[in-house]
Amino acid sequence: MSRTRSTSRTALLAALGLITATGATATVLGTATAGAAAPGCKVDYQITNQWNTGFGANVTVTNTGDPVASWTVEWSYAGNQQVTQGWNATITQSGAAVTAKNVSYNGTLATGGSTSFGFNGSYTGTNAVPATFTLNGVVCNGATPTTPPTTPPTTPPTTPPTTPPTTPPVGTKADNPYAGAKVYVNPEWAAKAAAEPGGTKVSNQPTGVWLDRIAAINGSATSMGLRAHLDKALEQKGSGELVVQLVVYNLPGRDCAALASNGELGPTEIGRYKTEYIDPIAAILADSKYAGLRIVTTVEIDSLPNLVTNVSGRPTATANCDVMKANGNYITGVGYALKKLGSIGNVYNYIDAGHHGWLGWDDNFGPSAELFKQAAVAEGSTVDNVHGFIVNTANYSALKEDHFTINDSVNGTSVRQSKWVDWNRYTDELSYAQAMRAKLVSIGFNSNLGMLIDTSRNGWGGTARPTGPGALTSVDTYVNGGRYDRRIHLGNWCNQAGAGLGERPQAAPAAGIDAYVWMKPPGESDGASKEIPNNEGKGFDRMCDPTYTGNARNGNSMSGSLPDAPISGQWFSAQFQELLKNAHPAL
Ligand code: GLC
Repeated sequence: MSRTRSTSRTALLAALGLITATGATATVLGTATAGAAAPGCKVDYQITNQWNTGFGANVTVTNTGDPVASWTVEWSYAGNQQVTQGWNATITQSGAAVTAKNVSYNGTLATGGSTSFGFNGSYTGTNAVPATFTLNGVVCNGATPTTPPTTPPTTPPTTPPTTPPTTPPVGTKADNPYAGAKVYVNPEWAAKAAAEPGGTKVSNQPTGVWLDRIAAINGSATSMGLRAHLDKALEQKGSGELVVQLVVYNLPGRDCAALASNGELGPTEIGRYKTEYIDPIAAILADSKYAGLRIVTTVEIDSLPNLVTNVSGRPTATANCDVMKANGNYITGVGYALKKLGSIGNVYNYIDAGHHGWLGWDDNFGPSAELFKQAAVAEGSTVDNVHGFIVNTANYSALKEDHFTINDSVNGTSVRQSKWVDWNRYTDELSYAQAMRAKLVSIGFNSNLGMLIDTSRNGWGGTARPTGPGALTSVDTYVNGGRYDRRIHLGNWCNQAGAGLGERPQAAPAAGIDAYVWMKPPGESDGASKEIPNNEGKGFDRMCDPTYTGNARNGNSMSGSLPDAPISGQWFSAQFQELLKNAHPAL
């Protein structure tokens, strides 16, 4: 689990024979020319591997002077080398100048003591080893310092800079970005939640920031753009770690099996997706000002699974999903987004992996995993750009069903044959997420993959929550009497009546799970209950109409949605109140 993504990339490149070991090294020895504390140092800078645009290096510093309690090693590059991630030191770079400072556990260096740190970098042209290094401001090679003292100094030698470096630390990607970190509270959502009666009980919870259109990147006079959110995030961060959760959601032909979240880009507008949407987002996220944030990007909710479950050959096929499968633009778009965003040192990509009530059937499970793999390696991306997957985004599937398991049977009939489960392999999101994770690792995703589960609206608490298993009269009474998820049908997805807030966001809640998150901001509508003209491309989906009697995707059942809902994404006060009332755990 401690394997860094850079290591795996290196391993991959090595396997492909793309790495040439150069063996380039520089060892510089010296004693101080000035200073009261008799400093002295030796620095050994080794390029451990190198390919056409990148390299790895290891630096060993030996203290030949008096003992030190902390150290700063500095050098300048002659070329365009850029450190991208480091370990065992906090490394910052401003222009060509690199500063490496000890971390908490390796600051002390006795006389003759040495320590090592490493980093990965990018470069073009030549990758020359720097000529001069300093330890705590003292030159290690005996060369003339850039500003030599003209008289023996009466004050101690150069002290470390008192102003912070212009670029924040370059760090190794964390295995679980949520571990030990706070998560960004979106002030716009928080204000809406706090304005509701009882809303302050949850308005300080972190929720996802949805970049659901090109205009969301810059924002407007009345809504925060991406930079405004990231600037606010820096304020919330303080000196600790902070995760910012973004939802990348603007594929061409978006939401091909439904209408409520159709988007602004037509099925063929992949060029605009790349240049007007992903590229500008990537440019902002790569700004060194934001390098200290852990940026989680959840990539394209509900897109890829539609290419498995809602295409010709399936009873649930739609013409639009056939179009998106044929033109390949979901795969191209996701691959492009993963590659662009994943190459940024502090961005963590999580691909959307549906939920158990969608992909939990054998026909859907394996083929979806394979399709995720196909997208992960499209457009020059690799699986190393995928930090993990998110499940249940904006859905209502229960986290855990405690009163029945998939292995139970009643009078000899399996739970899998109940109307509710209907041959699904899973009964809840936790078991589904863990199984999907194992499947993805088995087909070539990294073994340290982490899962996120959206628990924003899957609490199913309140007075109607079952307290024990259902009656053993039949498998249906058993399942229906015991299940927390009280939807009319597992395929219902729009503004569900009876739903409640689920588990509060938290890090590392279960094996293989990086976090429970509230990616869908509670209180934002899933879709309008009737046709409402708008300029966002959003259609009217009858699954959001409480009088609708359903279609093949929900077993021709009633939609179960709340009445009088506004278009998707807009504030829906009645739903927020319902979620508060039925929260589980209770507020
Ligand atoms: C829906 C909407 C989108 C919104 C999101 C979060 O998917 O289509 O516009 O941002 O939900 O509420």
